[in-house]
Amino acid sequence: MRVAVLSGGRSSEHEVSLRSGAAVARGLREAGHEPVEVTIGRDGGWTVAGGAVELVPGGGLLGAEAVFPALHGAFGEDGSVQGLLEWLEVPYVGSDVLASAICMDKLTLKRLFAARGVPQVEFTAVEGNDWWGRCEQMGTPLWVKPSRMGSSVGISRVTRLDQLDAAVELAQRHDPRVIVEASAAGREVECSVLGNAEPEASLPGEIVAQGVWYDFEAKYTEGGMELRVPAPIGADAVARVRELAVSVFALAGCSGLARCDFFVEPGGAVLVNEINTMPGFTDTSVYAKLFEATGIDYPSLCDRLVQLAVERHREVRSFEF
Ligand SMILES: Nc1ncnc2c1ncn2[C@@H]1O[C@H](COP(=O)(O)OP(=O)(O)O)[C@@H](O)[C@H]1O
Ligand SMILES: [Mg+2]
Repeated sequence: MRVAVLSGGRSSEHEVSLRSGAAVARGLREAGHEPVEVTIGRDGGWTVAGGAVELVPGGGLLGAEAVFPALHGAFGEDGSVQGLLEWLEVPYVGSDVLASAICMDKLTLKRLFAARGVPQVEFTAVEGNDWWGRCEQMGTPLWVKPSRMGSSVGISRVTRLDQLDAAVELAQRHDPRVIVEASAAGREVECSVLGNAEPEASLPGEIVAQGVWYDFEAKYTEGGMELRVPAPIGADAVARVRELAVSVFALAGCSGLARCDFFVEPGGAVLVNEINTMPGFTDTSVYAKLFEATGIDYPSLCDRLVQLAVERHREVRSFEF
């Protein structure tokens, strides 16, 4: 298939996305497909080999049979580019508009989890006049986060309540919606999911971050983190993580791929942290490493994802609208 690979984009994860896109193009080529690399500038302009790309409603994209949006964060992973691809009427890899938007917004996703009894940490939105009281009740350390961000940007670990206001102000620089969470103890574990209606989960891996937590430094500095696969959490917790990964993937309405992130507490309780609908996607990213350990190599992942994109497009288009 001729597959348009989108990378770059307008978010703070522009550089990370360029690496994901280059790797996807290689993986697709190895799987026998023909990638067309489309770069989205920080200004939002779309180019192929330096030439501007024309976007016409219903006009597809450069004759591609599918699009792989290897984009992270705002404008890439939040439903907006997915909306544009719907409007172009072209099959695309990954979650649709709604699932992308839900998973991008930590508050909305956690409220959905709460409504369905998915195990997670306590949390509150910073809104109304009772949030401060809720924070006092949860006790320190507290985690203060912009609701729609990524790469740990704008997140603070607050150990004293007199640091709370400054942390909220920092988070608000990135998003007017701010969430405060109670702290989970124990290990951080991630699990990759692949599929549409019948998704499969990889073996879980443990993230061992250098330093106190998995912050921006740990994520993007060489040697900042170590991935242990399979996670040393015992067979019961491994099974629980895989079962929860598949069920929250379905609950949020995801398709194609997602990386579901967890905390496994010392007593063995498994809590869901978040769902990333377009996680870092190079051949050495956590997503691919976990599937490699499960027996699916990188070119096969790329291939499966474009097939899944085409299947979903066919199904969605079979409804009247
Ligand atoms: N409630 C929490 N308890 C313990 N650690 C947390 C909590 N929330 C976040 N962290 C730490 O902060 C990191 C980033 O938080 P996360 O919610 O995953 O944001 P991002 O979307 O930026 O990855 C986590 O990987 C973990 O190390
Ligand atoms: Mg995270």
